[in-house]
Amino acid sequence: MNKTNFGKKIVKIKTKKELVKNLFNNVSNQYDLMNDLMSFGLHRIWKRDLVKNIDVVSPSIILDLAGGTGDVSKHLFKKYKESTIIIYDLSYEMIKKSQERIKNKNIIYINGSAELIALPDNSLDLITISFGLRNFANIDEAIKECFRILKFGGKVYCLEFSPSYSKTFKPTYDFYCDNIIPKIGKLVAKNESAYQYLSDSIRSFYLNPELKNIFNKNGFFCYNDVKYFGGIAILNVFSKV
Ligand SMILES: C[S@@+](CC[C@H](N)C(=O)[O-])C[C@H]1O[C@@H](n2cnc3c(N)ncnc32)[C@H](O)[C@@H]1O
Repeated sequence: MNKTNFGKKIVKIKTKKELVKNLFNNVSNQYDLMNDLMSFGLHRIWKRDLVKNIDVVSPSIILDLAGGTGDVSKHLFKKYKESTIIIYDLSYEMIKKSQERIKNKNIIYINGSAELIALPDNSLDLITISFGLRNFANIDEAIKECFRILKFGGKVYCLEFSPSYSKTFKPTYDFYCDNIIPKIGKLVAKNESAYQYLSDSIRSFYLNPELKNIFNKNGFFCYNDVKYFGGIAILNVFSKV
């Protein structure tokens, strides 16, 4: 099957990759501000917590897959001063922002695709993916690539929005996603459709048990999950076994 969903639409995998790349190239200037406004700053706490949760000792190379403007890498860098951190992203403009924000000889920037990662087999101990996975054109391929490049016992820390949130939140959260987020996108980023996609992509994403199944099917063991804000965002930890 060469089709996938882009928000509410069904598109070809190749088309989704282009649409997503263009979308993030277009919003890169307002991306950080928009995240603060939309999540009331919560995304900062979740990303910090992701890095706090990592229990891998002295990884020599860390891949921050779909690293965007470098929020997670910033924390990784503080925790793992001796490690090489690769910020890897499909959008050149997002990568450029991360280069402006964090400059260090231990950080490498790669503009590339998660579905075909330019790194050798069994070469890494640690991968982080923060709010990247649901944007990938071919999630299954990206997970296979993570498996290929990780050493046995290596881990993926994957933070993502989830539709598996508590039912109590549903009416408020749906209203917020449908009516508020796109409007903030229109006002601040001058891009309503990009933020409509953001809302739609959250609700059309896999429920957390389904997501775990895809990782399991590809050889990973899920040994932990942390739910934020009633499950609006979930940190899953997967290990290559
Ligand atoms: C919502 S942003 C998250 C950025 C950052 N990790 C964070 O937490 O702020 C999603 C990122 O995924 C990147 N992305 C989307 N599809 C990708 C793919 N197929 N391969 C690599 N990066 C991708 C986008 O360019 C964008 O920078």
